[in-house]
Amino acid sequence: MSRNIFIPGPTWVEPAAYQAMAREIVPHRSPEFRSAITSTQNGLKSLAGTVRPVYLSTTSSTGMMEAAVRNLIRPNKKVFHCSNGAFGEKWADISKRCGHEVLHYQEKWGQPFDEEIILSILNQGNIDALCIVHAETSTACINDLSRISKIVQNFPDVLLCVDAVSSFSMQAIEMDRLQLDVVLAGVQKGIALPPGLSICAVSQKALDRANVVPNRGFYLDFCEHEKQIQESMPISTPAMNLIWGLSYRMEQIVAEGIEARYDRHKQINEYLVDQLTNKGWNLFSEMCPRTAGLACFTPPNTITDTCDWARKLKESTGYVVDSGYGKLKGKVIRISNMGISDISELTPLIEAIN
Ligand SMILES: Cc1ncc(COP(=O)(O)O)c(C=O)c1O
Repeated sequence: MSRNIFIPGPTWVEPAAYQAMAREIVPHRSPEFRSAITSTQNGLKSLAGTVRPVYLSTTSSTGMMEAAVRNLIRPNKKVFHCSNGAFGEKWADISKRCGHEVLHYQEKWGQPFDEEIILSILNQGNIDALCIVHAETSTACINDLSRISKIVQNFPDVLLCVDAVSSFSMQAIEMDRLQLDVVLAGVQKGIALPPGLSICAVSQKALDRANVVPNRGFYLDFCEHEKQIQESMPISTPAMNLIWGLSYRMEQIVAEGIEARYDRHKQINEYLVDQLTNKGWNLFSEMCPRTAGLACFTPPNTITDTCDWARKLKESTGYVVDSGYGKLKGKVIRISNMGISDISELTPLIEAIN
């Protein structure tokens, strides 16, 4: 098996990770399985930058996006979404579908947020949470959490919820230091496992809020997750094999060292961007800082449709890259270095593109 897929999730999975998941089933509440849950916690807490436990949910990350707004918005209060790409927009849509009154500051894709606008909307009052995507996978842009957090700290009722799906384990997320209230991600991006498991850390302040929000249901209820994770118990029958895989990946990540891992992702991502920009591709946006896990490029003039180009690349080389998400479909390519451990794993793709 060799790496052939370079899309921004799901990521190629190394054979050793499949082996770690290929275990005989045991009872999911047995001491043996509970110890697997426990073994994920140190690594996950370090990656999220928190001392709080990290919930494991057998949902994709969308499940935890929905959980955040179902747990934290009180009746007659509003949720405020800031979006500058597809996944920020999607989160606002989820809130609407959950019946919440949504304030939506929709910035152009790839543009940083105007902090004055954020402040003026927060000043309208009656807002229970601000939801924001850290690394916008549709554009490869990073939103600056420390600046947003500074603004939100002036509004004690507003919880700050962060989708870290495309940054988690590839760049620092300082949940406790920045007073983030929810940090959520999935395992099929930087952690490089098959999809189907999401992770979510919730501040004590957010948990206190959840306690007074009615109709949270069961499966996505933060209070239920808290109770179970304190005992290293799953909330229901979980995706056990993925949890064994996560335990294996956390062991590897902790052994490498988290700072070393962040440096490595940054270097590989810089190499990717240098290589493609030298060949006439341009970054889709240079206005925001870039994620360390992927890059989004507009094509040279000779390429008019990136769907067509990506299809031909796949037919001639077997390599799969992404040809744009949502309204950027056919206009850009996105290449991911998620789960890549060394520049040499990218070189064959770069040569194929050349
Ligand atoms: C930033 C971001 N948020 C949320 C999601 C949704 O994740 P999932 O498909 O795992 O539910 C994705 C998926 O690519 C994403 O990139």
